[in-house]
Amino acid sequence: MAKKSTSKKSPVKKVGKAKASKPAHKDRVLITGAAGFLGSHLCDRFIKEGYHVIGMDNLITGSLKNIEHLFHNADFEFYHHDVSKFVHVPGELKFILHFASPASPIDYEKIPIQTLKVGSLGTHNLLGLARAKGARILVASTSEVYGDPKVHPQDETYWGHVNPVGKRSMYDEAKRFQEAMTMAYHNYHGLETRMVRIFNTYGPRMRLNDGRVVPAFMGQALRGEDLTIFGKGDQTRSFCYVDDLIEGIYRLLLSDYAGPVNVGNPKEITIKQFAQEIIKLTGTKQKIIYKPLPSDDPMQRQPDITLAKKLLGWQPKVDRAEGMKRTFAYFKSLSKKELNEKEHFSFENYAKK
Ligand SMILES: NC(=O)c1ccc[n+]([C@@H]2O[C@H](COP(=O)([O-])OP(=O)(O)OC[C@H]3O[C@@H](n4cnc5c(N)ncnc54)[C@H](O)[C@@H]3O)[C@@H](O)[C@H]2O)c1
Repeated sequence: MAKKSTSKKSPVKKVGKAKASKPAHKDRVLITGAAGFLGSHLCDRFIKEGYHVIGMDNLITGSLKNIEHLFHNADFEFYHHDVSKFVHVPGELKFILHFASPASPIDYEKIPIQTLKVGSLGTHNLLGLARAKGARILVASTSEVYGDPKVHPQDETYWGHVNPVGKRSMYDEAKRFQEAMTMAYHNYHGLETRMVRIFNTYGPRMRLNDGRVVPAFMGQALRGEDLTIFGKGDQTRSFCYVDDLIEGIYRLLLSDYAGPVNVGNPKEITIKQFAQEIIKLTGTKQKIIYKPLPSDDPMQRQPDITLAKKLLGWQPKVDRAEGMKRTFAYFKSLSKKELNEKEHFSFENYAKK
């Protein structure tokens, strides 16, 4: 019989310095809509906080470019999947953040049925997954649940003024259903749920051609086109910088509050004043032109963030001048091809599926 070695010396020769070992276990987070504007920033934040992130997206309105910097990271994986279909993720999950959904009017008007499906079937699939995994789920709702509000600013007790068959109904009603379904899972199954009502948010990685006013104005300025205002420009908006929003969402997820919470920036500005600010920021020599106001375009949207302040100790920190400067720097870094891209991809082909 061979004699057992009693030597304490390792038979393996050391080559260079050993790498710091990774923690044995990291909490795993599923983020749907990961390749989108907000989803990609959430992925960054959760990786920074030390989680293992599983991003899921069908790339209908998002882009792999938003998350390509994460592909070399061992704490990131990506599933190309439509969450309106059955969702399975192997292994444990601590948190699920459901952000998959077209989010801008020109997107959801092109794919109304998929928009309704991702807010309803998609949400149901993810609530089921959260229940199966014992995970806490946070769903992305929207100020659109208030519709064209009759109350200003809107707080969470306001039930809204939504046209159920209007131009935006596929989005507004999908999100209202999402909230109702999430609350039912909380009340009936005791699931740990969180709901964020997001107000207009802007920042790097928005799509230039998604029809929202910040990229629309910046794209027009960069292409040397006139800035288009719909209506007289006296409608107001309140813009929240993406870093502030992500901080609010992170705090809400870790809080113990299951009801909906507004997260947004209450500082209001008229669209006309905003166009003037963009002209100054970008140095464009173009002028403002006016087109008819689309129906169901809300005249005023302003969050009441009293609840977020009280519950989360949160309020926006980045002022509009700083946030717009950072956002413009991002749009300026895009290639000429990206700047002139009119269509993200063929929605028509997708809608046939
Ligand atoms: N950006 C805002 O100001 C704002 C305001 C209110 C609410 N929200 C909500 O936040 C979320 C993210 O919005 P965003 O601005 O990042 O939009 P976005 O279009 O940039 O991102 C949405 C992502 O979801 C993906 N997606 C859509 N349908 C899917 C499906 N069926 N399966 C898998 N992936 C799918 C898209 O490909 C995209 O990557 C949405 O739920 C939106 O309703 C955003």
